[in-house]
Amino acid sequence: MQKDFLSIHDLTQYEFHELLDLTREIKDNPDKYHKKLKNQVLAMIFEKPSLRTRMTFEVGMQELGGKAIYLSPNEVQIGKRETAEDVGRNLERWVDGIIIRTFAHENVVRLAKAVSIPVINALTDLSHPCQGMADFFTLREKKGGLSKVKLAYVGDGNNVCHSLMLAAAKAGSTMAVASPKGYEPNPEMVKLAREDGKETSFSLLITNDPRPAVKDADAVYTDVWASMGQEQEKEARAKVFAPYQVNPELMTAAKLDAIFMHCLPAHREEEVTASVFESPQSVVFDQAENRLHFQKAMMLILMGKKEKHG
Ligand code: CP
Ligand code: NVA
Repeated sequence: MQKDFLSIHDLTQYEFHELLDLTREIKDNPDKYHKKLKNQVLAMIFEKPSLRTRMTFEVGMQELGGKAIYLSPNEVQIGKRETAEDVGRNLERWVDGIIIRTFAHENVVRLAKAVSIPVINALTDLSHPCQGMADFFTLREKKGGLSKVKLAYVGDGNNVCHSLMLAAAKAGSTMAVASPKGYEPNPEMVKLAREDGKETSFSLLITNDPRPAVKDADAVYTDVWASMGQEQEKEARAKVFAPYQVNPELMTAAKLDAIFMHCLPAHREEEVTASVFESPQSVVFDQAENRLHFQKAMMLILMGKKEKHG
């Protein structure tokens, strides 16, 4: 395993499955792990808001016997107050690991390169790997396996979509992405997923039409139409994305037992209707719970080698 977790692309197929297996083990036996990161400290840099990511890393560290310290946008300000490298070179003198949520992915790469302690990507404009991994854990939990599963992603070809594609490639799942013209996933990320997917049974359809994407899907996934940092585009996007709403009618194209997934936060009656969001098919809060179990697994693997006494 590499020092950092910046992208699902960086995992070998073996590591991908090993992480999902360890997530299962931790979810089933949380007490076995409650001192594994005793006295370790995690710095959490957030340059964007968060409920789930902050809570799951903070609770996760607590459950593993360590401590997490939250740094708000006021403290850090990469590129304005201090460079990514300097932020990291300070933090590594005090803490054992860093998670970072920011805008430019490049800043996370630079920070990780500058320090000797593990760095975890907690969302950038390009990707959200912890979300993608936890979601594939949820998918496996609900569907019993991943290689025969079809995941349909309907909406913005954004950070979450990119990480789901990379996870699907490692898992050998079938994936279809339906986005409006001009809002398709980043071609570089599509290329990476296709390359990784050559080693598995992965297949990928990129389309502008939601119906064929959702056809026979085991899971239908959507995310907000305007991500954090795109607030000023909200109205224009609402018009373009309206035909991409996940509603009961679109869900009928999926398998009868298809689940509905969303990384949250969700905007009811925009990307998803309240009826689908609140339906028995919806697993959105299981996804949120599983962020905790996956991130504990990730922190154990990256930070667990170091023994700290005290
Ligand atoms: N899904 C997710 O990452 O949620 P937050 O933005 O609340 O962390
Ligand atoms: N695409 C969303 C995901 C939030 C968890 C955003 O970046 O705002």
